[in-house]
Amino acid sequence: MLLRGSIAGLSIASIALANPLHLSPRDYAASPCAEVSASVAAQSAAATPTVPAQLAYDCLTSVPLNKSAALELVDSVVPYFRWQSTTVWLKDPPQEYVEKIQEPVDIWGGLDDIKSKLEGDEYDNEYESTHDGHFVYVPDVLGTVFNWARKIALVSVSEDGKALPKPYVYSDVLAESFGNASFTASPIKSIDGQSAKDYLENWAQFGSLQDRDALYNNVFYELAIVSLGSSGAGMGTFTGGGRGRWVYPGAETELEFENGTTVTYENYARVLVSFSGVTDGVSLYQKWFTANKPTTTEEPEAPANSTTATPSSTPTAAATPAPGYPPPVYREAHNLIGGYYLTDDYSDIAVLSVPSFVSLGSAEIPFQQIGEKFLAAAKAAGKKKLIVDVSANGGGTILQGYDLYKQLFGNLSAYAAGDRFRAFESTDIIGTKFSEKAEGLPRVLDPANATLAELEYDVIPSLFNYQTDEDIEGNNFPSWDAKFGPLHQKGDNFTNLFRWNLSDVLTPYNSGGIYVHGFGPLANYTATPFAAEDIIVVTDGYCASTCTIFSELMRQRAGVKYVSLGGRPREGISQAVGGVKGTNDYPWDYIQSLAQYTVLNLSSTPEEAAQLNSTELSEYWSSTPFDRLAIGSAINVNFRDGIRDGDETNTPLQFVYEPSDCRILYTKEMTVDVTAIWKAVADSAWGGKSHCIAGDLGSGYGGGYKKRASNRQMSVEERSLVRRTEMWKRSRSVADYPMDVWTDLTKSNLDGNGIMYP
Ligand SMILES: *[C@@H]1O[C@H](CO)[C@@H](O)[C@H](O)[C@H]1NC(C)=O
Ligand SMILES: *[C@@H]1O[C@H](CO)[C@@H](O)[C@H](O)[C@H]1NC(C)=O
Ligand SMILES: *[C@@H]1O[C@H](CO)[C@@H](O)[C@H](O)[C@H]1NC(C)=O
Ligand SMILES: *[C@@H]1O[C@H](CO)[C@@H](O)[C@H](O)[C@H]1NC(C)=O
Ligand SMILES: *[C@@H]1O[C@H](CO)[C@@H](O)[C@H](O)[C@H]1NC(C)=O
Ligand SMILES: *[C@@H]1O[C@H](CO)[C@@H](O)[C@H](O)[C@H]1NC(C)=O
Ligand SMILES: *[C@@H]1O[C@H](CO)[C@@H](O)[C@H](O)[C@H]1NC(C)=O
Ligand SMILES: *[C@@H]1O[C@H](CO)[C@@H](O)[C@H](O)[C@H]1NC(C)=O
Ligand SMILES: *[C@@H]1O[C@H](CO)[C@@H](O)[C@H](O)[C@H]1NC(C)=O
Ligand SMILES: *[C@@H]1O[C@H](CO)[C@@H](O)[C@H](O)[C@H]1NC(C)=O
Ligand SMILES: *[C@@H]1O[C@H](CO)[C@@H](O)[C@H](O)[C@H]1NC(C)=O
Repeated sequence: MLLRGSIAGLSIASIALANPLHLSPRDYAASPCAEVSASVAAQSAAATPTVPAQLAYDCLTSVPLNKSAALELVDSVVPYFRWQSTTVWLKDPPQEYVEKIQEPVDIWGGLDDIKSKLEGDEYDNEYESTHDGHFVYVPDVLGTVFNWARKIALVSVSEDGKALPKPYVYSDVLAESFGNASFTASPIKSIDGQSAKDYLENWAQFGSLQDRDALYNNVFYELAIVSLGSSGAGMGTFTGGGRGRWVYPGAETELEFENGTTVTYENYARVLVSFSGVTDGVSLYQKWFTANKPTTTEEPEAPANSTTATPSSTPTAAATPAPGYPPPVYREAHNLIGGYYLTDDYSDIAVLSVPSFVSLGSAEIPFQQIGEKFLAAAKAAGKKKLIVDVSANGGGTILQGYDLYKQLFGNLSAYAAGDRFRAFESTDIIGTKFSEKAEGLPRVLDPANATLAELEYDVIPSLFNYQTDEDIEGNNFPSWDAKFGPLHQKGDNFTNLFRWNLSDVLTPYNSGGIYVHGFGPLANYTATPFAAEDIIVVTDGYCASTCTIFSELMRQRAGVKYVSLGGRPREGISQAVGGVKGTNDYPWDYIQSLAQYTVLNLSSTPEEAAQLNSTELSEYWSSTPFDRLAIGSAINVNFRDGIRDGDETNTPLQFVYEPSDCRILYTKEMTVDVTAIWKAVADSAWGGKSHCIAGDLGSGYGGGYKKRASNRQMSVEERSLVRRTEMWKRSRSVADYPMDVWTDLTKSNLDGNGIMYP
């Protein structure tokens, strides 16, 4: 996924470079990098030092371009680009995708372009080369040293829920909500001299999603995203959250309000690494942009050897509050999942908020348990309706997505789509060797024999062992060749369709430790706690990867309706699922370990190893892409595509446009109190009062909800929760809403095989 986002981001980044508010180069006493160094030294008390954005920019653009190193980097990414499943589709997408989602992108052409520009000396410095580059990952020069930021967070809200939204400064909305009653926030009319709408729609394109309404929402401060703390997209891309952290915002930001006031803020950069000994661009290059980077204070990430999220004891996301959320019935420690009850007129309604499908190894089992406990509690408490809120959900562990769906619909089919990946030399050789090794070995969890145990972990449950998956009829494949295919399409080759064997005894190795409801030890689970028409799913469009697998099942199999929130200031419906719909991402270091393991460990003789290493597998030994990767960033390809059951055109779901059933605009109240969102959804679905500005949930979908369910006996626990909710409402203040949340993946050991990294 990083792929699409980076490409969109980098091409638009050149617009940001030409920002009119980039002041002309200043005079520096020494060099700009020496000034950064001095400023950082003077800020030793600050946890993360900051410098003016322009100073950071001038420092980066003073780093000389090392042409030979840059060419080496461009060549070294080629083997990994081949694993990206959608290159031919991105180059030639369906017409509806081009009209409603994004323009075509020629990845291989872009890479050739960078190469010829490097060869033709068309780049002046190290930074510029990446700005024009279709790199699929964030190179050090873009992400290691500085992250860009703005001082003010914005929201986009409708005055009355019907009028098109306008942008506001979030602290103004907070002041209006909790401060002096007389203050009225003025909408922002223009930014840096451009209409706010155009500026923000263009800026939105830097984000990681493909859908433009979802991208627009991601510009702003959003409660669900903020609740993920440093492992989420921070306070929105406008402030430098998520992928916004890699885009130079210019020296200043000028906001002109509708009331005529104009305010100018200086932008800044967070300095992420030590500048000790840095005196100029050359010394910065030598310290941070080569293979011999200093070891950081953070533990380097252990090379992944499995697609699976594995339990780990490494540091997790900094504990984070969930401002704007009421007291939960249950909530996971990192806010990855939480169950809530609405009160008063809405007391028949339970809400399961799921801003992640688990990206932290230690949370896999608690995540599943909270779903189980909350659904049981909600039923026991007599709740009649369920809202599932997947806002901010960039995915996580694939099988958690299947599991949550199966917890809700225990008697329905667990599949709505088949998977496939690119069929080419590397995947064929790896699959042949993995399958050969696994042939005849038992599938057993945790065997006593250590040699076997390692194979049970690394080889036997792999999708490169043809015995792991089922075909889309639910049968075993007879051989690797039967799985590999290939199917020819658009001038490219893909494997035959396959799907997870959810009964597999080795499931815990692919799921971070859980089994899926309805399968294996949980095979007797067939419950349907809520009928489909008593469930509604709401999203901000930031639903990616595993979240899209979950959503495909919820919509296609169960027929549950979806509500999309917010979006661009335009009429009409929007998509509910706006993030990458690929069904599995592969980190590059995992790809490298697959190739090397095949040569080193699956060959029976040195001759065979040499033969394997005379194929494409010889191309995975360079450390350059890893050496030049920005510290604390992810490095991925989209490996598997999902193809909807019955789609004869075999179009990856990524390229299918899917409007939601109803679009609801954010109001100011919804940006400070998430229950205002849930109540608007409940009204529209079951309360006979539609907030949909487009789409329609049908009158009486689910038969309406009981107003004032006072005749229902509330338990002591629920009465206590109601009291705490009232107290929460009364005691909220501006100070509850943090203004220092930013994406920092060095603090969060993000993991997961179906995740879009922020
Ligand atoms: C440029 O990169 C090459 C590696 O490709 C390295 O050997 C050389 O020292 C670098 N030059 C400078 C000036 O850092
Ligand atoms: C309310 O307004 C008064 C007078 O303008 C000001 O001194 C005070 O700081 C304001 N309080 C808040 C919470 O904005
Ligand atoms: C205009 O609106 C802005 C943003 O809400 C506010 O900060 C400013 O004080 C207002 N100016 C006047 C003159 O009311
Ligand atoms: C894979 O990772 C697991 C868990 O971290 C470890 O126990 C195992 O030894 C690793 N295997 C290889 C081949 O590196
Ligand atoms: C699943 O269970 C629900 C609720 O009990 C029922 O209405 C539905 O017909 C069942 N579907 C299937 C396929 O068994
Ligand atoms: C352990 O398992 C490996 C792989 O299946 C096998 O070759 C070996 O004989 C086993 N060792 C013992 C002591 O059973
Ligand atoms: C697809 O496979 C065919 C052989 O089945 C091969 O000739 C062709 O080069 C392959 N295309 C690509 C793009 O790999
Ligand atoms: C799925 O896994 C189970 C348990 O390992 C096995 O019995 C079954 O044959 C597998 N099904 C297919 C279609 O491979
Ligand atoms: C399913 O089986 C487990 C034990 O295997 C048992 O604890 C549970 O009560 C069973 N559930 C149902 C719905 O039968
Ligand atoms: C793979 O082979 C290499 C080289 O022989 C060895 O160092 C490594 O431990 C092996 N890994 C596993 C998981 O067996
Ligand atoms: C495989 O080939 C590459 C490229 O020639 C080489 O760098 C690497 O050391 C080789 N690996 C082995 C195990 O022979």
